[in-house]
Amino acid sequence: MALWGGRFQGGSSQMFRQVNDSLPFDQILASQDIRGSIIWSRAIARAGVLSDEEQARMERALKGLLVRAEAGELDFAGSQEEDIHSFVEAALIDELGDLARKLHTGRSRNDQVATDFRLWVKEHCAQLQQDLRQLHRSLVKSAERHQQVILPGYTHLQRAQPLRYPHWCLAYVEMFKRDMGRLDDLMRRMDQCPLGSGALAGTTYAIDRQEIAEQLGFASPCLNSLDAVSDRDYVLELLFCASTSMMHLSRMAEDMIFFNSGEAGFLRLGDQVTSGSSLMPQKKNPDALELIRGKCGRVFGSLQGLLVTMKGLPLAYNKDMQEDKEGAFDAVNQWHICLMIACEVVDSVELDAARCAQAAQQGYANATELADYLVGKGVPFRTAHDISGQVVLAALAEGKAIEELPLEQLRGFSDLIEEDVYQVLQLEYLVDKRNVLGGTGKAPVTAALQQELASIDIK
Ligand code: ARG
Repeated sequence: MALWGGRFQGGSSQMFRQVNDSLPFDQILASQDIRGSIIWSRAIARAGVLSDEEQARMERALKGLLVRAEAGELDFAGSQEEDIHSFVEAALIDELGDLARKLHTGRSRNDQVATDFRLWVKEHCAQLQQDLRQLHRSLVKSAERHQQVILPGYTHLQRAQPLRYPHWCLAYVEMFKRDMGRLDDLMRRMDQCPLGSGALAGTTYAIDRQEIAEQLGFASPCLNSLDAVSDRDYVLELLFCASTSMMHLSRMAEDMIFFNSGEAGFLRLGDQVTSGSSLMPQKKNPDALELIRGKCGRVFGSLQGLLVTMKGLPLAYNKDMQEDKEGAFDAVNQWHICLMIACEVVDSVELDAARCAQAAQQGYANATELADYLVGKGVPFRTAHDISGQVVLAALAEGKAIEELPLEQLRGFSDLIEEDVYQVLQLEYLVDKRNVLGGTGKAPVTAALQQELASIDIK
């Protein structure tokens, strides 16, 4: 049943139906659409459109539909309806006959879809917050399990300075906490209800918009009907949240792919998140991590796609805006899946502490330390940097680490170097000297870890 048939003499073409119908994907909004309709039926009853008895019958039927929707029992595949809104109305008409034809009084699919989608986004923000919290927990637990591990830190993928493993974990924890904060901000900003805005100009019926906003769980109604039906900022913001978080996930994935490589060998991934090769029997590939990295493409694409769709659209509703959904549904689903699999990966990680320490010790990661040692003896940092660089060059030529050079040789570069330099060049010593707040020394890392452990216990 088309919702708009009266003015037409001819039917729609097959091809038009294919391009126009959104039921194949907006069926996801069934429960939001039905809940919105229940609240709408109450609002129009209060406006005198339905008697109390009619409203009660309608609400009962809608609640029955809601139960079936939530049980996955609605037959969308067998339906000829255009979208979820006409589907719900048709189902109601099947059950109640003419009474159901009163439901759409004073309402438009424009304020209806805006309300449905906002409800969906709010609910999924809450789910994604929970997913992010779970990953937060996995990272903090992994940091706790491998507290003693020291591994190389990199810049330009060159070994730079050693790090405590928890410091690496907690770097990602900071990113995922910001992702949660971004979702909080979005939820606060979008917490306004479009219902009652009509097609674009508001509704002539005496609707208490404050009340329907509250009943649907929004903080307040949208303040301008024209904006309310045209606004998709909340979808864009959600896609930006998803994209930024996927970017964080992909960086973590990339770090771990490298740490897991034969060349680094710092960690092993569990069998449950890796796969083999059909040809090379020895292979164990980090597929889960590669897919996290790979899925960024489609999520970023959805953000870009919707920005382009919305650009230059005149007010108010235009059918272009129906293109807001598939990308957003997919992005949210992929983000959710990636967060969940990231938890499994992090939980499965086993570290090779000896190999990590060995790599951290090699690669002249203590060259900065030697420079700082000389600074401590009164040498200006720039000069100390130069001397330490010359020591590295000499050590490289002999295929040795700095600390493997004998004292006489080191003193050839500066006679301020003494026996105590060897202690300074030691891995743990130099890591733990980074004692500043936010640094990788044992004290600040332990304090940060304790704080995160406490926060996951509270949650
Ligand atoms: N299926 C449409 C969408 O998702 C619903 C709104 C249709 N409104 C209209 N005036 N044709 O955007």
